[in-house]
Amino acid sequence: MGNKDPYIIELPKILDERGNLSFLEGEKHIPFGINRTYWIYDVPGGESRGGHSYKKNQEFIIALSGSFDVTLHDGVTEKVYSLNRSYYGLYVPNGIWRSIGNFSTNSLAFIAASTDFNEDDYERNFEKYLKDKNG
Ligand code: TYD
Repeated sequence: MGNKDPYIIELPKILDERGNLSFLEGEKHIPFGINRTYWIYDVPGGESRGGHSYKKNQEFIIALSGSFDVTLHDGVTEKVYSLNRSYYGLYVPNGIWRSIGNFSTNSLAFIAASTDFNEDDYERNFEKYLKDKNG
């Protein structure tokens, strides 16, 4: 697996009768330092989010609660990852087209990001994305 491939990362899990605990540290459990976190919640049924790629930003996406599907397209191949546990997540390198959908009721998506928010870092046009990617 190359440096720039998406992959599922399983996080530490401290099992406890009082309730379980998981955690993550940037550059240790995920392959980048964390500059920003954000979360997506109260998603109405049937909605989808995040049809875009980033030029620089890398992300790690966890379903802290409930479930949803992350669809990734690398310019050639599309792959769907179903996230439904709070102790693993999906690493999404920069340069990968991603969308998130099929949110369950009350699902909570938590995202750790490598860069500060910057609209200029987004590519929101899929046709242009494919063109830039494949020449
Ligand atoms: P966007 O990234 O397009 O959402 P999604 O990919 O989940 O569909 O962001 C939606 C809006 O929120 C957009 O106007 C930019 C703003 N936003 C910020 O101001 N800061 C952030 O960290 C993020 C992720 C979004």
